[in-house]
Amino acid sequence: MSKSQTRNRMSALIDSIMFGVFIVTTAPQFTGISLHEWLGIGLAGITVVHLVRNWEWIIATINRLLSTERTQNKTSIILNIVLFVLFTLVTYSGIAISEDIMPWLGITWLENTDWRRLHDLFSTLTVVTMAAHIALHWQWIVQLFQKRQRNKSHTHVEAN
Ligand code: HEM
Ligand code: HEM
Repeated sequence: MSKSQTRNRMSALIDSIMFGVFIVTTAPQFTGISLHEWLGIGLAGITVVHLVRNWEWIIATINRLLSTERTQNKTSIILNIVLFVLFTLVTYSGIAISEDIMPWLGITWLENTDWRRLHDLFSTLTVVTMAAHIALHWQWIVQLFQKRQRNKSHTHVEAN
């Protein structure tokens, strides 16, 4: 298997885990608050890995923005920045209203209804932005599955 195939497979695995955890995190009424908080913190951790793996894109984009060169694909740049800000805000506001992890660590926040409302608002905006982020990579996801299918049928023919 080539280096880029291995990289793509790893990205597909990490992205699928992120997607699954994200969906479950959006439904605290089903998981209960305690699991919701741990999933939210876990998601922030996997996102750091996701960003490190896409580091080349981030550095290349910063360089392009700093140079006078005209950037063509502005949509994904703006979307990724908005997603980063919202994701940070939803995690921060979640930690601020934490009922399990933070008290367990001995840190208690002031009971603040504004933060609760903000957490709710940020999470809604994150869901919408995340849907757009995934939609922008739809081609990448479809191609990955098509390649897998092609590889499978190829192996099948060879085996006969
Ligand atoms: C449910 C969670 C997420 C899913 C399923 C997801 C999916 C993807 C996919 C499929 C790619 C392209 C393939 C790859 O290299 O991994 C990608 C790239 C990227 N993602 Fe995400 N992502 C998620 C969350 C996030 C978050 C929270 C951020 C920012 C904080 C982010 C920032 C980026 C960046 C900077 C790139 C590379 C540039 C690009 O191609 O747009 N992603 N993501
Ligand atoms: C991507 C990350 C997250 C998403 C999408 C998310 C989403 C949500 C949603 C939709 C609710 C229900 C809001 C309502 O109906 O009032 C909620 C509640 C809550 N979340 Fe999160 N959350 C995330 C991360 C976190 C984190 C990291 C923590 C804490 C460490 C946290 C702590 C809480 C708490 C304590 C509540 C209950 C609030 C209340 O009872 O009013 N969340 N979250």
